[in-house]
Amino acid sequence: METTTSAPENQPGTLPATITNNSSAADFFQAAKARMEDEIIGQEALVERLLIALLADGHLLVEGAPGLAKTRAVKALADCIEGDFQRLQFTPDLLPADLTGTEIYQRSNDSFRFQPGPLFHNIVLADEINRAPAKVQSALLEAMSERQISIGRKTHILPELFMVMATQNPIEQEGTYPLPEAQLDRFLMQVNVDYPDYGSEKKILDLAHREAVNELGEKAAQAPILTPAAIKQARREVLELYLAEPLREYIIQLILATRNPASCGEKMDRWIEYGASPRATIALERCAKAQAWLRKKEFVTPEDIQAVIYDILRHRLLLTFEAEAEGINSEQVINELLQHIPVP
Ligand SMILES: Nc1ncnc2c1ncn2[C@@H]1O[C@H](COP(=O)(O)OP(=O)(O)OP(=O)(O)O)[C@@H](O)[C@H]1O
Ligand SMILES: [Mg+2]
Repeated sequence: METTTSAPENQPGTLPATITNNSSAADFFQAAKARMEDEIIGQEALVERLLIALLADGHLLVEGAPGLAKTRAVKALADCIEGDFQRLQFTPDLLPADLTGTEIYQRSNDSFRFQPGPLFHNIVLADEINRAPAKVQSALLEAMSERQISIGRKTHILPELFMVMATQNPIEQEGTYPLPEAQLDRFLMQVNVDYPDYGSEKKILDLAHREAVNELGEKAAQAPILTPAAIKQARREVLELYLAEPLREYIIQLILATRNPASCGEKMDRWIEYGASPRATIALERCAKAQAWLRKKEFVTPEDIQAVIYDILRHRLLLTFEAEAEGINSEQVINELLQHIPVP
């Protein structure tokens, strides 16, 4: 198992010029966003989703082809946060106890002592999660929703700030284990990363060159921007953001329609096998608020809901064999859903 830990607490380094003594939580998040966008070129949606997941106190699954900066993006977010970071490379020989920790026998006093595993960190990057077998995936997914780990008769509570960001590569087949569909619900969002465009590709090349040159010389350390206090304050502001009653109703109708697809027409009835759970309803509300807050709005608009719904439903809708045979993907199903439910 390959792991890397960094504890950037009290780490010297430079803070962005926009951060002063009387900066608000929103200023801290804008500064973190700007820094991440400088490091992850042309993937603004991914950067925004990483911050939304942090604001909504949820876990994120990032899927995309190799080399699209999935790992880099998660690391960039971790570098912005004042907390400890753990990277876990998932491999076929990993065991659940390698994540959770184990009871270790102590001969001196004839007792057992708990040795916490790598999940006991603030930010956990579960890299290439589909390369570990189901037992290990389950241990992770369970810890994600319970926020605690039970070993023997003892329960160990995970840190208050606990965020898992998992990456997976959809094109690998051999030696990979697909995540259990029923447990995917525990991810707040699933973000799909796509190839950058021409302009971004050019900028990535320039950045890679600059970084390679920098590595030969001295590199200025960057201080983490987001303190636990700033994250807590931001989360409070997100929860308090105004969401009008008709929009709450809109959220509920969108989710209910996935459970009663016939109400959206014969096509949808044919395509959707299982709809989304109440976790999806809660996630849609929280993420729409988080996006509105991050975009400096005073209230949530229908566009916020429509923008985040793809990442919330993508992994939660189970499509039928007919849908797959017709080449229909969840994006198309969500498009159809949005067309059927009237916007308030
Ligand atoms: N949008 C981007 N901005 C900046 N650098 C990028 C971007 N896309 C790719 N790169 C470069 O490509 C390298 C590969 O990125 P990374 O290792 O994060 O990919 P990955 O998506 O995790 O791949 P894999 O699925 O193989 O693990 C990075 O080190 C970076 O130099
Ligand atoms: Mg990677």
